[in-house]
Order: sequence, then C-alpha cells, then structure tokens
Amino acid sequence: MLAVALQPLHAVAVLLGLSLATTSIHVLAADPPSQDTGNNPIVKDPINNLSYRGTITTLPSSSSANPKVQIEHYLNIRFASAPRFSPPTPFLYQSGSLIDATLPGPACPQSLPAIPPFFAETHAISEDCLNLRISRPAGTAPDANLPVVVHIHGGGVVKGSAYDPHFDPDRLLSLSVELGEPIIYVAINYRLTIFGFPRLPVLKKQKALNLGMRDQRVALEWVRDNIVYFGGDPSRVTAFGLSAGGTFTSLQMVAYAGEKGAPFTRAWMMSGPPGTALNMTEEKETERHTRNVAERVGCIFKKPEDDEDLLSCLRNVPMEELTEKAMGYSVENHPPAGLFTFIPSVDGDFIPERQSVLYQSGRVVKGIPTILSWAQDDGATNAGPAPLFVSEESMIPALTSFLGHSILSPSDISTLFSLYPESDFLEEYQSYLSRKSDTDPEAPIHYFRISRILRDILFTCSSIDFGHHLSRASYSEDPDFAGVRLYTLNQSMLTPLFKGAGMPWLGAVHGSDTNYIFNGVFPEFGDACSEEDGKLAREMAGAFVRFAASGDPSPKEKGKRENEDEGWVWPEAFGGRELEDGVEAKRGMEELRGVNVHVIGGPVGTGSCKVRHHGFVADGEDLGSMQKPIVGEGVEYREMGGKDDVEEKAKKPKQLRRKREALLEREKLLKRCAFINTLNEKLGV
Ligand SMILES: *[C@@H]1O[C@H](CO)[C@@H](O)[C@H](O)[C@H]1NC(C)=O
Ligand SMILES: *[C@@H]1O[C@H](CO)[C@@H](O)[C@H](O)[C@H]1NC(C)=O
Ligand SMILES: *[C@@H]1O[C@H](CO)[C@@H](O)[C@H](O)[C@H]1NC(C)=O
Repeated sequence: MLAVALQPLHAVAVLLGLSLATTSIHVLAADPPSQDTGNNPIVKDPINNLSYRGTITTLPSSSSANPKVQIEHYLNIRFASAPRFSPPTPFLYQSGSLIDATLPGPACPQSLPAIPPFFAETHAISEDCLNLRISRPAGTAPDANLPVVVHIHGGGVVKGSAYDPHFDPDRLLSLSVELGEPIIYVAINYRLTIFGFPRLPVLKKQKALNLGMRDQRVALEWVRDNIVYFGGDPSRVTAFGLSAGGTFTSLQMVAYAGEKGAPFTRAWMMSGPPGTALNMTEEKETERHTRNVAERVGCIFKKPEDDEDLLSCLRNVPMEELTEKAMGYSVENHPPAGLFTFIPSVDGDFIPERQSVLYQSGRVVKGIPTILSWAQDDGATNAGPAPLFVSEESMIPALTSFLGHSILSPSDISTLFSLYPESDFLEEYQSYLSRKSDTDPEAPIHYFRISRILRDILFTCSSIDFGHHLSRASYSEDPDFAGVRLYTLNQSMLTPLFKGAGMPWLGAVHGSDTNYIFNGVFPEFGDACSEEDGKLAREMAGAFVRFAASGDPSPKEKGKRENEDEGWVWPEAFGGRELEDGVEAKRGMEELRGVNVHVIGGPVGTGSCKVRHHGFVADGEDLGSMQKPIVGEGVEYREMGGKDDVEEKAKKPKQLRRKREALLEREKLLKRCAFINTLNEKLGV
C-alpha cells in the first residue's frame, strides 16, 4: 500500500502547507462512496422560499450498532457575487428557486496542478467562485440544532478549494454520528492570489483590500444566518483551518479590531496563528507586486494618478492570463510555490493595525473558545534539506529567507542562536542517527536547531502569544470563559512519503493534522493508514467533534475527566484548574509561570503537559528536569509501533505524562517565545 513512487522533493522553501509541485505521488483511486442517484434529498428554507437539492453518499461504519452511515451533500451554494477587485455582495437566490446543489462548484482562480500530498488537482476555476458546500448526516431534522464546523482551507493564499478530496468530510461526519454527537460540515471558497489580495491606493479608498478575507466573512455570515434551515445551530459554529486557513481564522478574530464580533462562536487553528511571517504592513511591497503583474499583462500606466485606468485595464484581462501571470510572478518572487506574495494588509478598515498590536491591546473578539496548535516539526520543511546545515553560520540563510535580510540584527541572531544551544538538541540528533539507515543522509545537529527555531518563529510563539492575550481579555470579561487550549502534534501519516522522497529526517511536519482531523482522509493512499494512525485519527476527530458541540474537547464522562493522566482530558492552556483558575491568564509573557500544552500522538502518547517557565522555580520544586535524561521513570523509550506499545502506554499513564513534560520542558517554550515575541514589531506581525 505504501509503495508510492516519489521523486526527491526539493524542500527548499516550503511554507505553510505547500511543497514543491515536482513531487510525484502515484495516486491510488480510492473507492468512491456509493452515490445514491435518483434519491435526491431536499432541504427547504421556508423563510426565503428556497429548496436545495443535494446528493447522498453511503459509507460503511466501523461500529456494528450502526452498520451504514448516510451523508447528504449540498454543493455549490452561492453566498456572494463579486466583480473582479470588488468587495463581495451577499448573493440571494430568487424566491421560489429550486437550487441544484448536486455538483461541486468551481474553485477560485489558481494553478491547476496537484500539490501532493496536500492538494489535489483543481478541475475547474472561475471568478464566479464564491460558493460553499454543506454536508450533514442524512435525514437531519430541520430542528436538530446540530453543531456546525466551517472549514477555511489553507494553501498559502495560492491554492485550495472547498471540494478538494483532502478535505472530504464523510469520515468525520460518520464518526460524529457514531459518537452520538452529529455535526454539520461546511467548507467555503474565497478569492486567492491577485484576485483576493490586490493592492493599490485606489482600492484602499474603495475599501476593497483584503478581498479574500471579506469573502470569508460573508461566507461565515451566510452560515450564521442560513444554517438553521439545514438543521444547524448558529450559536455553535466552529471556524477551523490549517496553515493559511488557521491564520485567516485568527485574523477574522482581530478584524475590525474585534468591534464587530465574529460570525462564528468557536475557533480551531492548526499551525495558523495570526503572526507567522505575515508582514501585513508592507504596503509598498504588495503594491509593487500588483503593479508588476499589471505590467506583465500589458497594463502599463506609470503615474499614480492613472491608477483608475490601470485598474480598469486589469479588470479586462482574461482570467486565465491574469492567473497565469500572477502565479508566474509569485513563483519568481517567492520560490518555489509562490506562496504569500499577494497577502492581507493593514488597510485601516478590515485590518486596522498590525495583528499583534490588536490582540495584545485586547482589540480582539473575546469569549471564543479556541484551540491553537503547531506540529512538532512544523518548521522542518521551511528549513530546507537537513544535510545543508553543517555549521551555525549555515542556519542564517534559512532564517533570512523567511525574515528578510536586514530584519534581525547580528545581536538578535546571536541571542536567538544562544537560546537554542547545540546541547539541547543532542538527543534528537542522536535519535535520528540511531534510526536512520546506512543509506540515509546525515542530518547535522544544526538542522534540528534551525528547524525548531523556524517552528517557533512561524507557528509556536505566535500561537502562545495570541492564545495568552485572547485568554486574558476573555477572562477579564467572563470568569466562566471556556478557555484557550494548545496542542502540539507529534505524529504524521506523511512520514513514510517523505522518507521515500529522500527526507527521512522529517517527522511530524507542517500540514500533518489534516489527515487526522478529517478522521483518516488520505487520498494519496486511498484513505488507508496504519492502525496507530487510524486510532489517533478517531481520537483527534472525536476531540474536534466534542469541541464543536461544547467548546471543550475533553471527554464528557465524569470518571474520565477526573483522571488527568487519561490522554484526552485536555486542560485549558492559561486558565484552568491546573493553573489556579485564570491566574496565569493575567500575567505577561515574561511572568507566565506555565502553560498547559497537549501533546497529540507520537512515541510518548497523547496527554496534557504543564510547561513551566525555564528558570522559574516554584516553591520547593525541582525544575531541573531538562538536564535529566528523558529515559527513566521505568518507561522504556522507543519509537511508536505495534500493539505492545499501545498496551504499554495504557499501563503507565503517569510515567508517560512525566516524560512528556520533561520533553516539553526541554523545548523552553516560554523562555524562547518571550524573546521571539519581542521581535513582533521588527517582523511586521
Ligand atoms: C414559493 O415558491 C413556489 C415555487 O415558485 C411558489 O409556487 C409558491 O407560491 C411560493 N410560496 C410563497 C409563500 O411565496
Ligand atoms: C515589514 O514591512 C515594513 C514596512 O514595509 C518593513 O519596514 C519591514 O522591514 C518589514 N518586515 C519584514 C520582516 O519583512
Ligand atoms: C516526538 O517524536 C519524536 C520522534 O518520533 C521523539 O523523538 C520526541 O521525543 C517526541 N516529542 C514529544 C514531545 O512527544
């Protein structure tokens, strides 16, 4: 099953969920779930006098009590229309319409080829792409009042759509039915690349910047206002996304400085904090990109007073040509995939200020139960091929390729490097040496350092900082706030793929969450995965379903909740019982004594960890754990594997918990992030 043909990946600058399109993965044809034709379900909206005609898929269930699960799909529902470079206007079907929602809608303009293992080939693009899809357990009653999850796809603002098979909701919905906690799934399209994020002063005047984010907003408002007809509960809408999709979800919470609220009530962001490397203050840069692409399509107007003409010229360029030229330009600007060339910007309206200024000053939508996460090796694909990192100096180009050449001073760089000393990475380095085969390449210790540095700068520290301030602001308004939770994912279904592609040093890389959160969706492998991965997928998707329902991913059963060593009891990051009820939320980053981080998957299993500030010693406690060897406590440390390990884990939850904590203590998250977050202004985030 895992015999896939892969060419070596050039993992040079893989940012936020995209790898080079030169990978070739033999795609196995997955057995499509059977489609019940001639049996089209209808959803009625009596208020607007509309009917939606959908399709049904039938899938096997793993539970014998529930032999077959049927899912209804309503595709290609238009939520807005928007002429090129104009803000979206909500779209209303004519009263009395019967809407054919049986076929997928077009994706927004983008390059068509697949980017395995993250995105499938795009089949149809159109500028008339502002449509969404809804899937729900078959026969959901109009008054079912089910929780709703809304997927905002990632793809570095250049790729993705609501219909990509990597985001197939069938398995997630089927699980929700089995768990007795059925949910409704929605996925939305939004404009990408130059269509979604063009920049010119005239557009700013017309409040027509950040178009792609305005599209998302209108889609989310459509869900809030219309999901009730599909049996959904508008007071329980979870926005979720990975990578750019997570970042967009985060940014929706600071949009309009939080003053207009948010059209969703819970948020789950995977490797998608508001910060990352998104410099939204680079007005001149993004404007320059727009002008350069205009020149390439023959719209040559040099004077700023001719911008109106420039804009109307650009509006007349055929979609295919503009897409191709914008993508070609983006790839040159940010090789290899052209990510993040046309990006959101501070526009004085939708995004009034730098994102970290907004949330740090409490100008954020408060009271939204939130999950923020990173993957253990989130920065690895950004770092580049491991064998390159032969010395400390060799780490610098990897850093500047993300942060610009003159952004960090030599003293910033040396402080940064000293916070990630070689001695902290010996064990990871040795662990790679011990598991690599003779033919596998070397991965010098500096690779492990730069990979962690990039992870923390791009994903971890902004997640902790955003979560911390959100928590703080929310508790100050509501002592019963359901909380912010953090997790790090340490398992990946993609590892064998990357090993096959000549990169055996990659572990739980960026983007690994998707296969789990959709409960084992993996189109490249016909949705097949190992027993261990299948188990984790069910658990993680289960936590997601519980979160959608209640704002808390922990199991409901009382017995389980009380045992904190039970893997899926998931305490709040800053404010839970563990940390004296909100006390931590009130502290600044420098004074934070600790946060709870949930480790998901990997050799030491799933469970919560209290991560204390490195150097901060609580009353009589010895926190020298990071100097101690991790092996110990009677738990043998080994790579995850078969059944024995699973049983072993079940026997020794306490020891595993201690080991997880020791591993995370060693990452010195709070100390390192306290420094990294001082760089926000320089980084423009
Ligand atoms: C709803 O639309 C149908 C189909 O066009 C029409 O026959 C019916 O009269 C409409 N009902 C109302 C209340 O407008
Ligand atoms: C962000 O943009 C501002 C304004 O153009 C610029 O001064 C700063 O150097 C940029 N930062 C990065 C990290 O690119
Ligand atoms: C993550 O997994 C790697 C390798 O599988 C292991 O070496 C490391 O200790 C794990 N870290 C945590 C925090 O689970």
